[in-house]
Amino acid sequence: MKRTIQVKQIPNLKEAAKREMNLQPEFIYQSVEMDETMKNLGKNKKFFVRTYGCQGNLRDGEVIEGILSKMQYEKTENLQEADVIILNTCAVRENAEKKVFGEIGLLKKLKLTNPDLIFGVCGCMVQQEHIVKKILETCEHVDLVFGTHNIHHLPSLLKEAYFSKERVIEVLSNQGNIAEDLPSIRASKTKAWVNIMYGCNKFCTYCIVPYTRGKERSRKSVDILKEIQELKDQGYLEVTVLGQNVNAYGKDLHDISFAQLLEQIALIGIKRIRFTTSHPWDFSEELIDVIAKYDNIMPHIHLPVQSGDDTILRKMGRRYTTQSYLELVQKIRTKIPNVALTTDIIVGFPNESEENFENTLKLVEQVRYDSAFTFIYSPRVGTPAARLEDNVDMTTKKQRFNRLTAVISKIQLEKYKTYQDQVVKVLVEGYSKTNPSILSGYTEDMKLVNFKGNPEFIGKIVPVLIHKCKTFTLEGEILETRCAQA
Ligand code: SAH
Ligand code: SF4
Ligand code: F3S
Repeated sequence: MKRTIQVKQIPNLKEAAKREMNLQPEFIYQSVEMDETMKNLGKNKKFFVRTYGCQGNLRDGEVIEGILSKMQYEKTENLQEADVIILNTCAVRENAEKKVFGEIGLLKKLKLTNPDLIFGVCGCMVQQEHIVKKILETCEHVDLVFGTHNIHHLPSLLKEAYFSKERVIEVLSNQGNIAEDLPSIRASKTKAWVNIMYGCNKFCTYCIVPYTRGKERSRKSVDILKEIQELKDQGYLEVTVLGQNVNAYGKDLHDISFAQLLEQIALIGIKRIRFTTSHPWDFSEELIDVIAKYDNIMPHIHLPVQSGDDTILRKMGRRYTTQSYLELVQKIRTKIPNVALTTDIIVGFPNESEENFENTLKLVEQVRYDSAFTFIYSPRVGTPAARLEDNVDMTTKKQRFNRLTAVISKIQLEKYKTYQDQVVKVLVEGYSKTNPSILSGYTEDMKLVNFKGNPEFIGKIVPVLIHKCKTFTLEGEILETRCAQA
């Protein structure tokens, strides 16, 4: 028998695309409200949360875990013993969505052994009407669906799903508010993500994010600085400030700019500051100067170019040309000579010709990125590009993808080889994923290093002498005698 569905709100892509510039977001302090039942709902129970997608979504995953632990649920890594399972999803490419539907199917059997299990799906995927429809129609075992705007409602939604035995759906498609005072369980004790803004107004024609995340809206600088000060006091050595386009920080508040915010963060004195992502379009001189001025702002800029061809860039709605991009790169490198540049590139955008693609190869050869994420174009329902015919065939897309990654890897290896016999500063994060007798961590300019050394250095910044350089990693050993000076 089909269960009743309690539809509080379903998503609407048209609503999600609206931008009312005069509408200010509401700042909701003490945003997570809980009655006595919610505070005790998780007693002697466990939760499992799996997050897909970008760092912003990983941060949301930490908040979801924080809320569940406030309800007294305990975290488990074992799906079999979970009483609540939440998949926090990403919609940026079709592959990401396919993986989640596969996972939803696999988890069905867990309900047989635990009929009280609450199974929730949240995140960017369910901000889309057609996905919610598909879940409602074909995934009867999903009990709870909530979106990116109402994570702080989780206690009441969970309570409702638990006691009513109905399927509860609440996905808002408004422009979004700013929920503060969110509890969280951070993934690391040494490095932390801090949101400085939410949403995106850029509407690049291929991208679903502006629809799933709402309007570009900035947190107040006092709240951000307070969070980072607290992280420093707790012993965190690194923060990465997050936004879909951090350079637009503050424009909606008519308060301080991103460059000014970054400077204030630097003055807090936390050892390492990173930021992502920077749209090349509004990357200011002032920002370059601030990065150059402070030693604790790391010399790494992720500057997604997407394509090296002006016709394609125009069709993507990126609002810069290859020339202005290259000029920006030049300016950055002049003022920050040790900077590492990384990027994102999409191949196979509709109508991308061999010549368009070769222009991308040329740009990559010119810029010589330290590394790059490459993607095959994936049409997203409701975006302007999805109305164009997806007319580059998959074989060509894959060939271009392979040609591009070959060029990127060749340059990357050449760059990594310059680290041979150099001493780099590494924040030791823990053991290497592939070899538990080896430590690993990142350099200031974001190179992954695996090295021999004493585990007592985990959570510290240490000098590492590089012995071997590979395409994606450096290898070396800690110089223990020089650790005090690092
Ligand atoms: N706000 C960030 C990007 C977020 S999405 C920025 O503008 O840089 C991360 C990356 O996914 C993008 O940079 C883009 O390269 C890729 N991407 C986004 N939509 C895509 C799509 N429809 N198909 C393939 N790749 C896509
Ligand atoms: Fe997507 Fe463009 Fe916004 Fe980045 S800037 S999230 S690519 S629309
Ligand atoms: Fe994916 Fe949403 Fe991030 S679509 S990339 S999880 S903003």
